[in-house]
Amino acid sequence: MIETMNANRIARLYRWLEYATFGNALQQRRTAFLADVADARRVLLLGDGDGRFLEKLVGQNPQAHIDYVDLSRRMLALARARAGTGRVTYHQANALDIALPERGYDLIVTHFFLDCFDEAGAARLVERAALAACPNARWVISEFRRTWWSPPLLAGLYLFFRITTGLKTRRLIDHHPLIARYGFRVVRSESAWFGLLTSELWAVMEPESAKHRPKR
Ligand SMILES: C[S@@+](CC[C@H](N)C(=O)[O-])C[C@H]1O[C@@H](n2cnc3c(N)ncnc32)[C@H](O)[C@@H]1O
Repeated sequence: MIETMNANRIARLYRWLEYATFGNALQQRRTAFLADVADARRVLLLGDGDGRFLEKLVGQNPQAHIDYVDLSRRMLALARARAGTGRVTYHQANALDIALPERGYDLIVTHFFLDCFDEAGAARLVERAALAACPNARWVISEFRRTWWSPPLLAGLYLFFRITTGLKTRRLIDHHPLIARYGFRVVRSESAWFGLLTSELWAVMEPESAKHRPKR
């Protein structure tokens, strides 16, 4: 099993470090399109960490059944304490190899998670999530984006995660072409911090046949 990182050591401090660095900006990105997906029924939430988004999703979305997947035992415990167990199934697992139902989800969510992977890892993750998505699925993403001024900040963030979690990834990939290969298109997006932070709502816009056949 290829492990991306071990977030156990930073799990409890994670949100405080985030608030100290970005204030409430990351949580605003995570929740930007929450109302747009209030009708989701089967949700795959990958690498959600301490469950601050999960808690909002459970509160906002009265009918969804949610599969939460995170490698970190401590992150999972924080998420469970925050969001409860009513409609959430918690999986302490690697998103790169957990068994996922084919076409099982109408909503995929990845917040500040694709940035944990190099190009090959992200491609594999995206493929797995896309194949687990049903024909009219949506995908909510928050991410960092490269801007002309961001390299020192991103380098600092990657250094921090390398030291504290063993993260191997050293640079931010562009997730757009990876997701577009499966027929998803951005239907809404918002950015903050002068383009550093993005929230995106993606939906499958192409015929079913295109979705599972990556474009070359
Ligand atoms: C940078 S944190 C982001 C957490 C949260 N999504 C957020 O918005 O802050 C990355 C999270 O992904 C988890 N993670 C990293 N690699 C993973 C993998 N291969 N499979 C599942 N979870 C993983 C970590 O344990 C951590 O909780």
